[in-house]
Amino acid sequence: MISGLNRKVFTQLSYGLYIVTSHLDGRLNGQIVNTVLQVTSEPPRVAVIINKNNLTHDLISGSKVFGASVLDTSTPMTFIGLFGFKSGRDVDKLSQVNFFTGETGAPLVIENSLSVLEARVIDEVDVGTHTLFVGDVITGDILKNGEPLTYAYYHTHLKGKAPKTAPTYNPEKD
Ligand SMILES: Cc1cc2nc3c(=O)[nH]c(=O)nc-3n(C[C@H](O)[C@H](O)[C@H](O)COP(=O)(O)O)c2cc1C
Repeated sequence: MISGLNRKVFTQLSYGLYIVTSHLDGRLNGQIVNTVLQVTSEPPRVAVIINKNNLTHDLISGSKVFGASVLDTSTPMTFIGLFGFKSGRDVDKLSQVNFFTGETGAPLVIENSLSVLEARVIDEVDVGTHTLFVGDVITGDILKNGEPLTYAYYHTHLKGKAPKTAPTYNPEKD
């Protein structure tokens, strides 16, 4: 029998790492997420989970579009630090990287990215600290061959951590 919650269970869930971007009134921003998930094939639909305090949340809520880039295993920690530990409220992240503008107007980051897609939000679920955005994929393509960066690789090889704003943050480790 088991009773109570051993939060180590959550460390065994597998994810990739992505940059999710959006735009609103000319403002561009993006952040690291581990929570891009394909939810259906027809229509091609993805979901992403974003903390309500993040600037990226405000942009996606306002514009109802988002972009996502699949990060390469060779992504340096400085890049993850910029997008995953700094807010666009304090620093202009997109001015520091290469991107192109998608059909939805979302900036699609190409630096350290194996592939990109963009989506229009069709539904939003309030899950408490975060919002789960579901979007129809409008465009998407492979940029180069490589190995997608996994959350396991990030933890084991890059010795990376999850900040408080990440859904996977473990409050018992602080
Ligand atoms: C490995 C990693 C995974 C993360 N996953 C998520 C996530 O799935 N959802 C989320 O809202 N924040 C996640 N974050 C935290 C955001 O990237 C971070 O709060 C960012 O600074 C928000 O930037 P913004 O305010 O410019 O939008 C993650 C960070 C890291 C380093």
